[in-house]
Amino acid sequence: MTQGGQEQGCDGQNTAGLDVDDLDTALAQTELARLADILGRANVAYHREDAPVMPDAEFDALRLRNEAIEARFPDLIRPDSPARTIGAQPAEGFGKIHHARRMLSLANAFNADDVADFVTGLRRFLNLAEDALLVLTAEPKIDGLSLSLRYEQGFLVHAATRGDGETGEDVTANARTIADIPQRLTDVPDVLEVRGEVYMSHADFTALNARQAASDAKTFANPRNAAAGSLRQLDATITRARPLRFFAYAWGETSEPLAKTQTEAIARLGALGFTINPLFRRCESIDEMLNVYASIEAQRASLGYDIDGVVYKLDDLALQERLGLRSTTPRWAIAHKFPAELAWTELLGIDIQVGRTGALSPVARLRPVTVGGVVVSNATLHNEDYIAGRDSRGQPIRDGRDIRIGDWVEVYRAGDVIPKIRDIDPARRPATAQPYQLPETCPECGSPAIREPGDSVRRCTGGMICPAQAVERLKHFVSRAAFDIEGLGAKQVENFWRDGWISSPRDIFTLKDRFGPGQPRQLKNREGWGEKSALNLFDAIDDKRRIPLARLIFALGIRHVGETSANMLATHYGTWPAFRTAMADAQDENSPAYADLNSIDGVGPVMARSLITAFSAEGDEIDALAALLDIQPAVARASDSPVAGRTLVFTGTLERMTRAEAKARAESLGAKVAGSVSAKTDLLIAGPGAGSKAKKAADLGVEVIDEDQWLALIGAV
Ligand code: IVH
Repeated sequence: MTQGGQEQGCDGQNTAGLDVDDLDTALAQTELARLADILGRANVAYHREDAPVMPDAEFDALRLRNEAIEARFPDLIRPDSPARTIGAQPAEGFGKIHHARRMLSLANAFNADDVADFVTGLRRFLNLAEDALLVLTAEPKIDGLSLSLRYEQGFLVHAATRGDGETGEDVTANARTIADIPQRLTDVPDVLEVRGEVYMSHADFTALNARQAASDAKTFANPRNAAAGSLRQLDATITRARPLRFFAYAWGETSEPLAKTQTEAIARLGALGFTINPLFRRCESIDEMLNVYASIEAQRASLGYDIDGVVYKLDDLALQERLGLRSTTPRWAIAHKFPAELAWTELLGIDIQVGRTGALSPVARLRPVTVGGVVVSNATLHNEDYIAGRDSRGQPIRDGRDIRIGDWVEVYRAGDVIPKIRDIDPARRPATAQPYQLPETCPECGSPAIREPGDSVRRCTGGMICPAQAVERLKHFVSRAAFDIEGLGAKQVENFWRDGWISSPRDIFTLKDRFGPGQPRQLKNREGWGEKSALNLFDAIDDKRRIPLARLIFALGIRHVGETSANMLATHYGTWPAFRTAMADAQDENSPAYADLNSIDGVGPVMARSLITAFSAEGDEIDALAALLDIQPAVARASDSPVAGRTLVFTGTLERMTRAEAKARAESLGAKVAGSVSAKTDLLIAGPGAGSKAKKAADLGVEVIDEDQWLALIGAV
């Protein structure tokens, strides 16, 4: 077909010359199909082939015609509407896309034993005999960034980065410039999300850096950063000029199952036009898996792109389903990482950083050295025991060798993590080198820095009078996994803090009242701010008053409470009032609230103590913050299931599935699974041999059902 405005419509009617006002529904449909086709091709020719097929003015006229017809017939707007798919770029920042299915990360294995444990765990979960065949797949772990591509009726409708796994950034316009990504698929389920890794080859990376250097532009540390920087460009024409590639290795929502096995599903993605990795293999034993690992590792240097391990996945998709997911990783897959990369360099000094919990962290300042392609000049030294050559129990590490300024140290990097120091070379130690002592006062505020019994870390006792702790807590509060306020990053927080505009999290939510329109001092008059950016920030802050409970708990920055624990706490308590009351009641260690807190899967005595301490020391401050927010209850993931939000206990022998599988299934349906029966138990599932728990349940009037009734209840039979 030639390009231009005069082709026949799909069904032979010539709709091209008709006035928009003269179209009826059928003609409008034909004309919209024609315009989608012409404009789609012209767009590909322009963006991907760099060979425009029509003058810009003609392109624009056709686009306007398309828009006018869509305005008259909104019901006819196509999934591949040019208005939706061409050059559609958000003016400021990226739009957000909520993933229909969460984007997961992977648990890690570092050696053959970990891999064997993983496979044994799968067998145990599924109750498979040791000699029963269990098929897994093995494939390279690509060192890039993951991307989810959503196709509706075969049309690419959007592309999103992983983000926090729940919500990613809309990079559709950029993804359309990647040649490995088909814009259109035929013979596919109505909804198909294809997931994989965007990466840059070594050759393209080297050439890009040479071009960047020649034009005095920023060069990239490694291909992964280059790929990420290129995909996350607001201007898709920049992305177009960067040679990105894509391997498909997984999928998200699909309106119909893709296949029965991982192997078939990947082959199907390949047949649809996606690039799949040629080193993908099907394995029938741990030995085969480890052989594939060795073979991929041997080819690593000659692949032409970065990989950082091998991913094993259970092949049978029905078994994957049974294993289900942990909070951020599937139980049915694992990444077997390659050993870390190493280099030797000189330790020039040790700096102390004070974190949000007051921890004094020693940081090694190194003579810059390249480790696995990245220039490293800092590395973590963990804590004073690590420097002294012993572990947390006082046992020697590095044969007891301590680390001194002036030493030659062996630095290693594994994946994306902060570089670490593995060892020192005693033969090259300067005669003047002295054992290193961590300071006993905080370098930021001068308060005593003490080490409590059982703690491996020395901490500043200054609390909120310590500027470093205060600022770090604020930075944590606004960070991506916490409040994630657009326009309020680490740098802005530091500036506001320095000038006394924000000294605690709640001050963020009164910023507009104090520095907004009509106030004597106004944000818009600050250096680096203007009318619009100030209003945008106030809006962004207002937006985040509505906050999911889990995010708020994480944002509080309580020691030992990370993202996963915050999620578990939120799911357990459900609402802010329930959580807040429990934290107050649990101050009494003999209270049911204390026992309940400790019974939560993943909450141990250390985290419980930490929560209780935080709420006793800062309860008022936290309440004042909460009063400014609209805290969203945690929704059980499958809230329509009959067990969502209920507390279950399993006892006795289960015959149809292992205890681990039963627990995982119940949790995936939004239930809480407890280890013992109490007044809070809603349901006891009792198999043969149930003993004291069944009796206790009967005493407490808790409903008791057997395994078959349980399976019927959750619709598993
Ligand atoms: S599977 C459901 N396969 O590794 C499992 N991930 O560390 C989802 N990655 O977030 C991932 N190569 O970005 C899978 N062959 C591969 C991969 C791979 C690279 C990335 C992916 C994931 C990260 C986890």
